[in-house]
Amino acid sequence: MQKVKVGLEKHSYDILIGHGLIKNSGQIIAPLLSKNRVVVITDQNVAPLHLHYFESSMKSAGVSVSSLVVPGGESTKSWKYLIRVVEWILEQKVERNDLVVALGGGVIGDLVGFAAATVRRGVQFAQIPTSLLAQVDSSIGGKTGINVSFGKNLVGAFHQPVVVIADTEALDTLPHRDFLSGYGEVAKYGLLGDEKFFRWLEENAASLIDGNVELRMEAIKRSCQIKAQIVENDEREYGERALLNLGHTFCHALEAVTNFSDILLHGEGVSIGCNLAFEVSSRLGLCPQEVPSRVREHYHSINVATDISQINGFVGNADQIYDLMAQDKKVVNGVIRFILASDIGKAMVHENIDKALILEVLQQSLER
Ligand code: GLY
Repeated sequence: MQKVKVGLEKHSYDILIGHGLIKNSGQIIAPLLSKNRVVVITDQNVAPLHLHYFESSMKSAGVSVSSLVVPGGESTKSWKYLIRVVEWILEQKVERNDLVVALGGGVIGDLVGFAAATVRRGVQFAQIPTSLLAQVDSSIGGKTGINVSFGKNLVGAFHQPVVVIADTEALDTLPHRDFLSGYGEVAKYGLLGDEKFFRWLEENAASLIDGNVELRMEAIKRSCQIKAQIVENDEREYGERALLNLGHTFCHALEAVTNFSDILLHGEGVSIGCNLAFEVSSRLGLCPQEVPSRVREHYHSINVATDISQINGFVGNADQIYDLMAQDKKVVNGVIRFILASDIGKAMVHENIDKALILEVLQQSLER
């Protein structure tokens, strides 16, 4: 088992990464409890695959479990299910020192984390992320929340988990497309902060996508280390944490144009967005021309989309995408903030970029 620490003083916690950890979660969680019981919330897709193993391991460790299963999918990250989860947690008479467990992908982690942040002004919670995207990104760093009619993740709270348990065995049941989508966030870490890691991915991505467990563990560990360090420096995103949004200004607009549907998964949008960010960086003269080509080549080598034209069923144009970028929640005083880079591993925040240049890059990506 690998361990990555997120050092946030009183709110520090470990990310544990290993194969088969859900089956041993009782041994990990029991020592963290003040009473021998937990409540767990999961979804209808994850429950048949993993809930039984979680419950048996808890019972073997002498811990009783109550569980709630909610529907899967992004629409569960809503007021309706927040109320459902909060009221259920209260029905279970959960107290501040009890432990609420989120077992699932990013939707469950965000929803349950937010419920835990609000019940009794904050109860302890543990993340057991079952998707690659959740293991390397959303389960770490304490961002929790729901979507509302005004936009995605617009209501939420920072609430750090007490432990993150990333079981690589759970990735074996993940559909290939979801795994590749999660890979978009893995590659992002190399691109934003660690050229050596990106080089390692160039050599090893094909095998880790193919199922090599050691390589998967290494990629998750390195991604978590990079994220942990950024979160330690800037928990509330006043500065450096914004770099984690490399590719996301483009991605959020593409997700909005596609109505947040399955046409485009989040990590797929991140991959396309990272390529667009490097293209813009090169056109601005921030990085040499070979850099976006190298990025693009890596994604091509593993069959991950780099351009908007590769989104099946995409209907939209450059102006629409630009207008949606201008509505991103990270826009300040009407100025769009982009995360660009001077090289692989060297990301920075940039503002006031010529609209015509962005439109040109979007147009090229629509035609490629
Ligand atoms: N997913 C971006 C962040 O955690 O800040």
